[in-house]
Amino acid sequence: MIFKKRIGIMGAMLEEIDGIIDLLASKKQQTIGMRTYFSGEINGVETTVVFSGWGKVAATATASVLILEFGVTEIIFTGVAGAIHPELTVGDIVLGKRLIQHDMDARPMIKQYEIPLLNKMFFETDNLRLAIATKAIKQLLVNRNLQETIPLHILDEFNISNPNFLLGDIASGDKFFSDNEQKNLLHCQLPSVLCVEMEGAAVAQTCFEHQIPFTVIRVISDTADDTSPVDFALFTQKVASVYSTQIIKYIYKDLLYSTYL
Ligand code: ADE
Repeated sequence: MIFKKRIGIMGAMLEEIDGIIDLLASKKQQTIGMRTYFSGEINGVETTVVFSGWGKVAATATASVLILEFGVTEIIFTGVAGAIHPELTVGDIVLGKRLIQHDMDARPMIKQYEIPLLNKMFFETDNLRLAIATKAIKQLLVNRNLQETIPLHILDEFNISNPNFLLGDIASGDKFFSDNEQKNLLHCQLPSVLCVEMEGAAVAQTCFEHQIPFTVIRVISDTADDTSPVDFALFTQKVASVYSTQIIKYIYKDLLYSTYL
């Protein structure tokens, strides 16, 4: 049987995926279960792009349709996140090495954070995807490529000059973090977590259960404290889409030459 690659790309904000939808050639769209799926080709690779909705249930439902209806062979999630690690700030990028659901708690039957029946807390991204995404993110961050894509006055508005890139753990759950207490509690309970969002670990679990690879890339939109509602809204409107679109472009540039196609 010939393995036909088809990539699913998900984003948690309409603003974030608009630029990626524009990359699709021979675009078609189909609505299923309150989501519109945009299919076409990027650099000759069959791709379906979709807005995930917010939260773990919405993301799981959307990822399942991507896998079962569109036959995607892997999923890339790009979106924003709130910083938990003290060194992260707005505009930095996190690539998820492991994904955990911070609101999963079936104690006393099983350990906190452990996924029932799966016997695991973390879902891991494979090394090949980590290498491809790392290369793409670094390409965006070197040689002032970001500054060439986003106007300087907008970068200044968010105090973005030399964004950091960190690889590590991402936590997901059905909660928007908007005060210091919540943030500190998560940091104490799960000290390896770099940032928090609402979908990644749900997509990771869905992919794990269907045995396909996943990649989660998050740009820090806020610091998950009392400033986060304002920073989050402005960042997603003005900046997030550019980051996501550029990273996807670099990933596909690499895919063309990569041996795993
Ligand atoms: N996504 C972006 N910012 C977030 C926050 N502060 N909490 C949860 N998800 C987020």
